[in-house]
Amino acid sequence: MRSVIAEKNIVLGVCGGIAAYKSVELLRLLIKDSASVRVMMTQNARRFVGPVTFEALSGNPVCSDLFNSRDKSAMKHIRWAETADAVVIAPATANMIGKIAGGIGDDALSTFVLAVTSPVLVCPSMNSNMYQSAAVQRNLGILKNDGFFIIEPGSGELACKTVGPGRLPDPPYILDRLIRCISPKDLTGNRILVTAGPTREPVDPVRFISNPSSGKMGFAVARAAEHRGAEVILITGPSSLPDLPNVRTIRVNTAREMADAVFAHLESSRIIIKTAAVSDYRPSRKSEKKIKKGEDALILHLEPTQDILTEIGKRKKNQIIVGFAAETDDLEKNAIDKLMRKHLDMIAANRIGWNDSGFESDTNQVTLFYKDGAKESIPIMEKGELAHLILDRITKIMQG
Ligand SMILES: Cc1cc2nc3c(=O)[nH]c(=O)nc-3n(C[C@H](O)[C@H](O)[C@H](O)COP(=O)(O)O)c2cc1C
Repeated sequence: MRSVIAEKNIVLGVCGGIAAYKSVELLRLLIKDSASVRVMMTQNARRFVGPVTFEALSGNPVCSDLFNSRDKSAMKHIRWAETADAVVIAPATANMIGKIAGGIGDDALSTFVLAVTSPVLVCPSMNSNMYQSAAVQRNLGILKNDGFFIIEPGSGELACKTVGPGRLPDPPYILDRLIRCISPKDLTGNRILVTAGPTREPVDPVRFISNPSSGKMGFAVARAAEHRGAEVILITGPSSLPDLPNVRTIRVNTAREMADAVFAHLESSRIIIKTAAVSDYRPSRKSEKKIKKGEDALILHLEPTQDILTEIGKRKKNQIIVGFAAETDDLEKNAIDKLMRKHLDMIAANRIGWNDSGFESDTNQVTLFYKDGAKESIPIMEKGELAHLILDRITKIMQG
């Protein structure tokens, strides 16, 4: 997927902490997302990891010294600061946090930070007592007030064998927060309700009726909306995907549980995006005991579940409602019918039965139908990219 961070100029600052090795992985992830990265290491960071790895991965010389470097531009702390789209300091030592808070510029990284005007994400990592010390907490407070973005360190057993807060979060999480820092915040002030995944309708204690929905599309929409400043509630059926940062995730099993959760949050949501593949039928009776295998055919009596989207359409106020339709036949006719009948603003119709689209796949190919009759065929793309495209279309609808 073309990430928000692709082609962006990122400066990665690395300080002399035990977690400096993790910044190599962070750099690799940034490069994988096609960011253009330059690395600044403190002199002490070089005692923990060598610059060669950073140079090889980034394709750029590492800067550690303002006055003597292979990069010949004498004012590189200013040039790098002027061209940076974002800066991430990981790990940020107690020492560097103190220097930034105090406005000190006595080395390349701290001097560079003074000149930066783009977002700076600071990722503290240190021994728990150091992290909880009055000085570090006071300095972090100053940084927050000054507009720096701070990632809370994780808790657990640290390299120094103490247990508590201070661990540098995993690089994919840092990357996710960095992407959020530089994403446009065009959905700020909007609460978005997203549904995802399948539902499971129990037959007996060990069996259920379900479908292969992975939740990937809904999680991608929730993630993209959170990056764009929305307050996101994600209601998901069983999915192996982990909770997303800063997204309130409610995990349910059955269609009934999903309906209850959706209706509890419906009124307070401005935008509702329903990607969940909710079961249309459930066994009318769940056997309390496991049904034993027998010689005869087993007949299950199924009853319809509540149509959540129809009910949302009925209760619709000043809201934008977007549905998804997965169809094997008559895609267009069925999608338009669903759009009109359920009072949706837009429906994303995807044909299923193809490996690279629909359930479980990382990519999706949809056609968008709008309530004014417009139709838009979208080429196949990563679900993350499609999520942003759908949010772009929603913001257009909101602008009228
Ligand atoms: C083995 C070792 C591990 C260290 N780990 C950390 C750490 O995780 N976080 C931290 O803030 N300081 C840590 N320090 C202390 C810093 O290296 C020290 O404060 C140094 O002055 C930081 O320099 P810098 O901020 O210019 O990189 C560690 C020191 C040693 C010797």
